[in-house]
Amino acid sequence: EKGGFEHFMLKEIHEQPKAYRDTMRGRIDASGKHVVLPELKLNSEQIKNIRNVQIVACGTAYHAGLVGRSVIEQLVKIPVETDVASEYRYRSPIITPETLVIVVSQSGETTDTLAALREAQSHGAHVLAITNVVGSSIARDADDVITTLAGPEIAVASTKAYTSQLIAFYLLGLYLAEVRGTQTPEQIAHIIAAMQALPEQVEKMLSQADAIKDFAEQISKHEDLFFIGRGLDYAVAQEGSLKLKEISYIHSEAYPAGELKHGTLALIEDEIPVIALATQESVLEKTVSNIKEVKARGAEVMAITFEEHVAGLLKSVDQAFAIITHIVP
Ligand code: F6R
Repeated sequence: EKGGFEHFMLKEIHEQPKAYRDTMRGRIDASGKHVVLPELKLNSEQIKNIRNVQIVACGTAYHAGLVGRSVIEQLVKIPVETDVASEYRYRSPIITPETLVIVVSQSGETTDTLAALREAQSHGAHVLAITNVVGSSIARDADDVITTLAGPEIAVASTKAYTSQLIAFYLLGLYLAEVRGTQTPEQIAHIIAAMQALPEQVEKMLSQADAIKDFAEQISKHEDLFFIGRGLDYAVAQEGSLKLKEISYIHSEAYPAGELKHGTLALIEDEIPVIALATQESVLEKTVSNIKEVKARGAEVMAITFEEHVAGLLKSVDQAFAIITHIVP
């Protein structure tokens, strides 16, 4: 049942390429130029009237929502907030009938997320759920559902569901962008092509698992660790930190790379591992200068970046790990 893997978590990590393909299947038209979401009841007029978006979820799904915020703001140019579900209804959020509320839940059964959905509906908002379980409470009660087709997630720690939620956010963002005319057809086709290339890239990434294992062995001796990054890298860093804590019981914190100097840098001491995510071109130089700050305090830095930046970054870090992408022309 574990398909030859030692744990369900490992099996599910390796199921990511399939989960992406399944989640995209039927939602990108044959020309590769349009996202189609026939399941949505939300019509063009409603989409044009959306004034703000609120994304609400817990844990890993919340972290997917942090990426979702950036995706929707950038593609659709609508203000987006992302809230932890257990906080949402107690902060008196401003919800109107022109608010699109997106709840994200792998299981579709998380109590706080369900309560947030009901709160939003009671204010007349349209609630769209991104969930992995058809027929779950959240899927049943939401006004619209985008199902991630990641397959059953048995391991307690969410993996393939998280990355499939990111795919769902991109599909939704592209769809809304086309209806609202906020991206050119070329920009939309470009992102779709990049998404279609993903499953194969992830397969290649997963085949490098041994290199990652070596690094994991080094950090297993430590009790504290930091993840740093800017922008989307910071959103992903938060998920990385949660996963590390949940699985290894090693304490870690995710910090926006530029925020460390406001108090926390004192905690960076000799040989403390810092995982620096540096995949955002627009802030790469700024991230590198933050990496130099932690290096100056003696941290052992492992950078995650694009292949073309590995050599450059190795001047300032101890190890660099390349994520595989191919830039779609
Ligand atoms: C972390 C993890 C949890 C869940 C959270 C929400 O690995 O699995 O943080 O993400 O409990 O669960 P769902 O998505 O089912 O609402």
